[in-house]
Amino acid sequence: MNASSTGKSVSVPLRVIVGVGGGIAAFKAAHLVRYFTEQGHHVNVIPTRSALKFVGAATFEALSGNPVSNDVFDNIDEVQHVRLGQEADLIVIAPATADLLARLAQGRADDLLTASCLVATCPVVLAPAMHTEMWEHPATRDNVSILRSRGTVVLEPAHGRLTGKDSGPGRLPEPDHIGELAEAAAHDRRIYRHSLAGKKVVVSAGGTHEALDPVRYLGNASSGRQGYALADVAAQRGARVTLVAGVTEELPIPSGANLVRVKSAREMQQAVTEAARDADVVIMAAAVADYRPASVADSKLKKGGEAALNSLELTENPDILAGLVEARRAGDVASSTKIVGFAAETGDESHTPLEHGKAKLLRKGCDLLMCNEVGDGKVFGQRSSQGWLLHPEGDSVAVTEIPFGSKLEVAARIWDGIESLSRASGD
Ligand code: CTP
Repeated sequence: MNASSTGKSVSVPLRVIVGVGGGIAAFKAAHLVRYFTEQGHHVNVIPTRSALKFVGAATFEALSGNPVSNDVFDNIDEVQHVRLGQEADLIVIAPATADLLARLAQGRADDLLTASCLVATCPVVLAPAMHTEMWEHPATRDNVSILRSRGTVVLEPAHGRLTGKDSGPGRLPEPDHIGELAEAAAHDRRIYRHSLAGKKVVVSAGGTHEALDPVRYLGNASSGRQGYALADVAAQRGARVTLVAGVTEELPIPSGANLVRVKSAREMQQAVTEAARDADVVIMAAAVADYRPASVADSKLKKGGEAALNSLELTENPDILAGLVEARRAGDVASSTKIVGFAAETGDESHTPLEHGKAKLLRKGCDLLMCNEVGDGKVFGQRSSQGWLLHPEGDSVAVTEIPFGSKLEVAARIWDGIESLSRASGD
């Protein structure tokens, strides 16, 4: 699987098994099947017997273009109960009910889905959905730990409205979101290992809008995707996440993240600074406007009016990243807090993007800086990225190349870099 440079699609076709457990969210599996087929993957759906009480086999057959069965005795002449699992590149089970998690943890093989999981050597991704009490029950916690310790990817459920009037963790994430998370795990199943459990992280994402008058603003084209991907991977790795989002595309909220919405650079500074006080890691992935209009008109500016629109007086915005480094120096942010910046560079006659990135890292004083080359349709608004992760070493800069991949894959490599830095400093 590889993302195309247009970022539109991610893929070389995979053989994907979509397993469906018997929960009310089984209907969302139909959308997941569609997501995978639209990405060009070959899909076989294996529902449990109880899943078929919620959605009929015909729906899954029509959407996948393949016959559906759920019994180990179906198509016995083709030895289907081992063939499908052996041939799969990826198994995704959504929803994974509490009962299914228990059966998988025990290594049962009493239906086609569990038997397929038992023979599979490919990544297996489970998207649990159940009532909060079931998700938090010690039996389920143990089953999840057992499965994770064996290398099965157990995604964190979303928080929100459940089947009845209750709400909390246990909701199935949106199907496209599960699809993207699972595709990233197909590359590297360790992408969501639980290595950030107990950590608090703050991620800023998106662009800022700097008001000119009640209807106009100065802004930029940041989609917020890389910041959301960083928050996503951190949440899946078990961290408590505060996501300070400026202006972004409409993106799914990472599971369990505390989402703080802001518009301007100054609002972002306030939210990030407040959340950074007790954070282990702060990542400034946002594209913060360097300048804002010196004054904001109370009413809409008029063409040819006194406050003319043909020239703008600007004033500099605070540098949030540099401010965080300064606050750490002053003791307002813990000395163990890791501070990570981004640099989107184009390069010019005298310097390459990497040279600009290195200079920026030393200037800003942060611990790591993710540098991308942008322009010509690269990175901004795309689903994929690549670049260099920079780390100061005395007066020079150590460079780790981040290869081309989806923004989730890039996010995982950035987190790997942050985690190894924390380990090296004993935090
Ligand atoms: N940043 C920030 N506050 C600002 C501007 C930038 O915190 N007012 C952060 C960004 O979130 C990013 C890093 O600083 O992590 C680098 O952003 P960039 O815009 O590339 O830096 P600038 O210092 O504005 O450099 P340039 O002159 O290249 O625009």
